[in-house]
Amino acid sequence: MSAHIIDGKLIARNVRAEWKHRAAKLTEQGKRPGLAVIMVGDNPASAIYVRNKVKACNEIGIHSEVHHFSSTAEQDEILDCIDILNRNRHVHGILVQLPLPPHFENNRVITSIAVEKDVDSFHLYNVGALVTGNTNFIPCTPYGVMVMLEQCRITVEGKHAVVVGRSNIVGKPMAMMLLERGATITICTSKTKDLAQFTQTADILVVAAGQPGMITANMVKPGAAVIDVGINRLPNGSLCGDVEFETVKEVAGYITPVPGGVGPMTITMLLCNTIQAAERSQLTA
Ligand code: GUN
Repeated sequence: MSAHIIDGKLIARNVRAEWKHRAAKLTEQGKRPGLAVIMVGDNPASAIYVRNKVKACNEIGIHSEVHHFSSTAEQDEILDCIDILNRNRHVHGILVQLPLPPHFENNRVITSIAVEKDVDSFHLYNVGALVTGNTNFIPCTPYGVMVMLEQCRITVEGKHAVVVGRSNIVGKPMAMMLLERGATITICTSKTKDLAQFTQTADILVVAAGQPGMITANMVKPGAAVIDVGINRLPNGSLCGDVEFETVKEVAGYITPVPGGVGPMTITMLLCNTIQAAERSQLTA
């Protein structure tokens, strides 16, 4: 039987509709949520992501501002900008679009963001908070995956979850969140020997390796929930995930498509984190 296809666009639309009310309520109370995005250089993919974030903010009623620096900017200029934004009462979320140019120290920049405005949850404090079960912000992509699992009533507790990918943005926080929810986890990478041996026993398989079509039908346990975080551009210009969708959907119980799966959820969860940051700032004002 063919898998249930998890419609990320639909789930994202429903989540945004719910949170739009929360943003409107804050605005009525004179506290419109605000997000500042810092971009350094002209990486074309980053430019698209930033444009999409600004558009999504406009649609949900979040004030957004982009601080764009040239690729030759000094790190101190960015640190000064973050310092000003940290003290700006109208800005509740700050994110630095990655990657930064090679002369930047990522951790130095990210840890200069106030932890209560770190809506990406990349600050070392927030990473530590997540790992120890004291979550401050949930990183956007893994947050989106958890919401998708919840919406599809896929139980995590007691399951074997396999995460392929060990990035700080997706793989590691994803594994920690699944662990926190009671799954037994295995973390694999592109270097794992005999990857299929691990993926074949996964009840929940999350793939974020950046390798087009690396997961084939013979690597998937029948009935498994397969979440594809990969977004790869093929030479013909089309997008594909890390999972071979057409064949795997005949084996899996649930599967996310690319595009239209995890992608729409990531920005949605960024909006939620920003609104949540604004709500919290109201409590402490
Ligand atoms: N670059 C790629 N993905 C992300 C993300 O989720 N946040 C930021 N800040 N940069 C990215």
